[in-house]
Amino acid sequence: MDLGPKMYNAVQRLVVDFDDTYSLLKKEMGFGPGDTVVDIGCGTGLIAEHFINDGVRYVGIDTAAERIAFAKELHPQGEFYCEDVRRLSNKLSFRYTLMHGVLHHLSDGNARDILEFLATQDCRSFAALEPERPGPGWQHLLGHLYCVLDRGDFIRSKQGYDGLLPSGKSWRVVRFKRPLVPVNSLVLVADLNAT
Ligand SMILES: C[S@@+](CC[C@H](N)C(=O)[O-])C[C@H]1O[C@@H](n2cnc3c(N)ncnc32)[C@H](O)[C@@H]1O
Repeated sequence: MDLGPKMYNAVQRLVVDFDDTYSLLKKEMGFGPGDTVVDIGCGTGLIAEHFINDGVRYVGIDTAAERIAFAKELHPQGEFYCEDVRRLSNKLSFRYTLMHGVLHHLSDGNARDILEFLATQDCRSFAALEPERPGPGWQHLLGHLYCVLDRGDFIRSKQGYDGLLPSGKSWRVVRFKRPLVPVNSLVLVADLNAT
C-alpha cells in the first residue's frame, strides 16, 4: 500500500521531529544561509521549509512524479527536479548533499552508484539519515517489527552502511533515538570529495 502524499506527510510528522532533525543536519553538515543544499530522494519535501526559512537554497530531487508535484505546490520557494540525479551534474552544486531516509530503500548497487557519482561532484559534506538494524535477540523484538513495517528492504547495521562508501572514504556517525521509534537513527556524515 502506497500512502498518498498528504497521508505520508501526516504520518512522518507524527514520528519525526523535523525541527530537531534540521538543527542536527545543520550542525553536522556545516551549511548556513546563502548555501545550497541538495536533498536526494526528497519525497514530498517534508524538510524543505526548514532550509527555506533559514535562508538556505533548497533543491529537492526525487524520481516519484506525484511527490515532486506535491512538494512544488507546497514549497514554491524550493527548487525541485523529478530526475535521475546523475543527469543534473551540469546544473547543480552538490557541495552539501543530503539523503533523508532513502539509503535504506536502495540496494547496495543503487546506493553505491549515487555515492560514487557524488564523489565526482566535489561533494564535501554529505549526510544520510537512516534507521539502524537492531542486533539479534528478543529484547529487540519491537525494533525488528518496526523494520518490517517500515518497508525499507535495506535497513542496515552501521557496518552495512559503511560498505556503501566509495573506497578510501569513511563517515562520522551520530547515533540518536526518536521517542516513538524503537530502533536507533544514524546520521552518517562524509566528505565524498574525490581528491
Ligand atoms: C522513504 S522516502 C523518503 C522521502 C523523504 N526524504 C522523507 O524523509 O520524507 C524515499 C524517497 O526516495 C526516492 N528515491 C528512491 N530512489 C531514488 C533515486 N535514485 N533518486 C531520487 N529519488 C529516489 C523515492 O521516490 C522516495 O520518495
